[in-house]
Amino acid sequence: MQPGQAMTLIELKSVCKSLGGQRVLDRLDLAIDRGETLVIMGRSGAGKSVILKHIIGLMKPDSGEVLFDGQRIDTLSRHQLNETRKRFGMLFQGSALFDSMSVQENVCAALRRHKKLSPGEVRRIVAAKLEAVGLSGIEEKMPDELSGGMRKRVGLARAIAMDPEVVLYDEPTTGLDPITAHQINDLILQTRSQFGVTSVVVTHDVTNALKVGTRVCLLVNGKINFSGRPDEVRNTDNPYVRQFLEARGVGPVTAAPSA
Ligand SMILES: Nc1ncnc2c1ncn2[C@@H]1O[C@H](COP(=O)(O)OP(=O)(O)O)[C@@H](O)[C@H]1O
Ligand SMILES: [Mg+2]
Repeated sequence: MQPGQAMTLIELKSVCKSLGGQRVLDRLDLAIDRGETLVIMGRSGAGKSVILKHIIGLMKPDSGEVLFDGQRIDTLSRHQLNETRKRFGMLFQGSALFDSMSVQENVCAALRRHKKLSPGEVRRIVAAKLEAVGLSGIEEKMPDELSGGMRKRVGLARAIAMDPEVVLYDEPTTGLDPITAHQINDLILQTRSQFGVTSVVVTHDVTNALKVGTRVCLLVNGKINFSGRPDEVRNTDNPYVRQFLEARGVGPVTAAPSA
């Protein structure tokens, strides 16, 4: 953090959003600090993806405010919004690679849109980002030649291609086997420690939430119902949180296991 910088990087203030005749976000308040990895948990359809879309300005609130680095995001012009979005990387649900484009083209799609770089520089950046996600040398492969876990990792390489300050992850481990999910969790942790990014991870899976989050919050009925560190999540009496924990067989921590 730079001297004089506010601790909060992203803030949603009393955000209301209705979609399809239903109030999805209901005076939602949420502040995300620089450098933290905030996990937003919630059941399917709770509004988790809708929150991410508000953070990057893909959706605007019906009322309330969305701030990024002290600036309103929800009132920016299209041009200003495009500039601000360069500071974000997003790993979309299902990885969302372009099937007709090679890995190289997929990863550099974001670069070409935003930066004036020589072809050599582009190749160097793509190679470095693929190396960061443990997939060196697969530039010429097509997405349908890759496993689900590899596609996710290529999606992550694309998300970090522009050295973003914030990375948003929408259900990064959903649909992956436990070993691949573990690899993705490691990459989320590594991206934070290596690049110092602020991360927001959305998931319905409490096990993975506890592995990657420095803080975990729970979205219920359009509001943040609970927020705490992973150890506070495990030990809370909050009935909504306990439902998530018990569904996955995660019990309270009674004694610290000896290392
Ligand atoms: N563009 C849209 N138009 C209409 N309804 C939407 C739209 N996007 C999301 N919704 C609705 O908003 C609710 C929350 O969606 P979403 O944020 O995608 O849930 P999740 O927590 O599973 O990510 C759901 O009921 C969904 O059907
Ligand atoms: Mg979603």
